[in-house]
Amino acid sequence: MTSAVAPMKRRTAPPVVRAHWLYGNVGRLKRDPLGSLQEFVSEVGPAVKYRFFARLWGYLFVHPDHCQHILQDNYKNFTKLPHPTFLLLYPLIGKGLLSNDGESWLSQRRLAQPAFHRRRIQGMGETMTAAAERRFSRWEAFVRSGDVIAFDREIMELTLDIAGRTLFSVDLTNEAREVGDTFGRLNQLFVKLVVSPASLYTMRIPFWPSTRRVKRDVGALDRLIYGMIDGRRESGTPGNDLMGMLLSARDADTGEGMDGKQLRDEVITLLIAGHETTALLLTWFFYCLAKYPDVEAQVHDEVDRILNGRLPTVEDIPNLVYTRQVVDETMRLYPPAYALSRFCNHDDAVGGYDLPEKSVITLSPFITHRHPEFWPNPLAFDPERFSPQAAKDRHRFAYIPFGAGPRQCIGEGFALTESVLVAAAIAQRFRLRSPDDHAAELDPQITLHPMGGMPLIFESR
Ligand code: HEM
Repeated sequence: MTSAVAPMKRRTAPPVVRAHWLYGNVGRLKRDPLGSLQEFVSEVGPAVKYRFFARLWGYLFVHPDHCQHILQDNYKNFTKLPHPTFLLLYPLIGKGLLSNDGESWLSQRRLAQPAFHRRRIQGMGETMTAAAERRFSRWEAFVRSGDVIAFDREIMELTLDIAGRTLFSVDLTNEAREVGDTFGRLNQLFVKLVVSPASLYTMRIPFWPSTRRVKRDVGALDRLIYGMIDGRRESGTPGNDLMGMLLSARDADTGEGMDGKQLRDEVITLLIAGHETTALLLTWFFYCLAKYPDVEAQVHDEVDRILNGRLPTVEDIPNLVYTRQVVDETMRLYPPAYALSRFCNHDDAVGGYDLPEKSVITLSPFITHRHPEFWPNPLAFDPERFSPQAAKDRHRFAYIPFGAGPRQCIGEGFALTESVLVAAAIAQRFRLRSPDDHAAELDPQITLHPMGGMPLIFESR
């Protein structure tokens, strides 16, 4: 008697990028990390296996179905640690929310979540626009001088100011420039370390130049963070903000509070994640307005019509429809978090391909957001892609500027509120112009920066 046996389905590893057996793709990745990832996809398709260096392999997945599997459907199999990027970032962010995993991550996430409740964020709107307004007189002086300004730095200081006041009730105005410079140096250094095969070893050598540089800059940030924590402790009341919630938190079993190191890791993570990405979004937003006059005219028309000369409030946000669409389209083409890292803990299959345990994985919102199957004419800047009708039928994982699944950005609502309010407040008052039609190049650090900063000229409207 014969029985019907389903044919064994043989899966294979994702297609491999051709490379030297020893040097792999390390030279290419060092020269142009993001460009190389894009080339890998053009060469072999949306699921990629590539030799990083010698026997170190990496995987890249950019199809929305792959993102869905890794970020949501089987997310527990894909952790942050011990992915090399997070090991390298450990001296800076430790085991804060962004890099933590498992039960410890879940309890910390639950703890911080109420600080990001919609109603709380709505209460922060005025602080956000007031911080922008405080900078207007400085920017009026730029209008008069006509100088080319490093707009990215202006915005980075503004969003740091906003994060300090809204999340931790501190005024970081005096520290803003130095903190910005320190983050900038670390960001550039870390991306070099990430594409260097030896860095996981050299980071353990105390006198190695990069180890010393990290120690010096992280030390400076630590003094600021511990100062903020001590200041609050000495005030005698934990307070009602995010810092207060972290300070008052008690373990359900032991009744103990968070230890000093964990508290430091959470605060520095939230301070970095809470200002850097939003600053980049706003920087690219005004670059796109300068580049696409038709889009700029529609934003100007909307803010003039809705605001009529006053500062925007959170109640205006639902009416600033087009401005929001421009924010979304900016994040499609220039997602601040252009690459996400995961470590595969057990054998798995992604998009029909075998993925062995201990695989080091990269997802790239940048590449997924330009996937021609989901984004017709992907390089065109077209905010209409985000009209409610157009967005309705799209694959949920084709647009993931804030990640997705349980590890989705905790600050999404905060960031969108801040960016629409600040963008509208600035656009109502100023026009930003590109000097000599400057074409910004990408500088993919840990986040997506414009190469050499963003030179723009302030004009009055
Ligand atoms: C435009 C602005 C922002 C962008 C594009 C952005 C993007 C992201 C992305 C893609 C992730 C997921 C990372 C991953 O899956 O590996 C993430 C996580 C996170 N973001 Fe944001 N973010 C932004 C603003 C913010 C703000 C304003 C805050 C805090 C105030 C914040 C705090 C965090 C934290 C704590 C996590 C880790 C969450 C977890 O794993 O539980 N982000 N962000």
